[in-house]
Amino acid sequence: MLAPLIAPSILAADFGLLKQECDMVNESAADWFHLDIMDGVFVPNLSFGTPVVKSIAKAAKKPLDIHLMMIDPDRYLDLFIDLGARFLTVHYEACTHLNRTINYIQSKDVQAGVALNPHTNVSLLEDLITEIDLVCLMSVNPGFGGQKFIESTYQKVKQTKSLIEKHHASTLIEIDGGVNDQNAKKLYVEGADVLVAGSHIFSSSDPQKTIKQLKYD
Ligand code: DX5
Ligand code: ZN
Repeated sequence: MLAPLIAPSILAADFGLLKQECDMVNESAADWFHLDIMDGVFVPNLSFGTPVVKSIAKAAKKPLDIHLMMIDPDRYLDLFIDLGARFLTVHYEACTHLNRTINYIQSKDVQAGVALNPHTNVSLLEDLITEIDLVCLMSVNPGFGGQKFIESTYQKVKQTKSLIEKHHASTLIEIDGGVNDQNAKKLYVEGADVLVAGSHIFSSSDPQKTIKQLKYD
């Protein structure tokens, strides 16, 4: 059965029980681990750094999808590549030489993603879409988990899907922020391939069931 990929966002996990939380994801229907790295400059918050990513990488039996919410991410690409990123996503708004950044990530056999803030128009990716492995559409303003989903994201998914089709690209569309059982199905129907979800999964009483519902309901 066709279904979206589900990437639980570890930001919403209980860090005192990190190994257990990772095992929960390992044993669930989830597909990837989504790791949010915040620098306190590009976004008004800090998340976690190298030691925590190392622990997650050690426990994880599924691909690491690392989302860099930082200015000038070129400085840290090697660090996260060496820590085991399978997907490494930088922000459009944070890169001066995005084409170079994407090419560098891919030269290390890592899939390259570009994230767009809610105000950033998808058409800006027109000249790059065939080179990107993943477009991450932020459906909240990045920096915090647990925010409300921005409804105009559906329209953006449609635009992204038609841009990808127009260029015969195979780019994946990922949605990040405020994903829950109210919007998951519609996002998938509009063309989303990957759904990131943090608080909806980790604050539920049965996270594995919640993951399954996001994927198949
Ligand atoms: C937001 C982060 C998201 C966040 C999602 O800045 O990029 O990945 O962890 O969390 P929820 O699903 O709680 O909005
Ligand atoms: Zn994220």
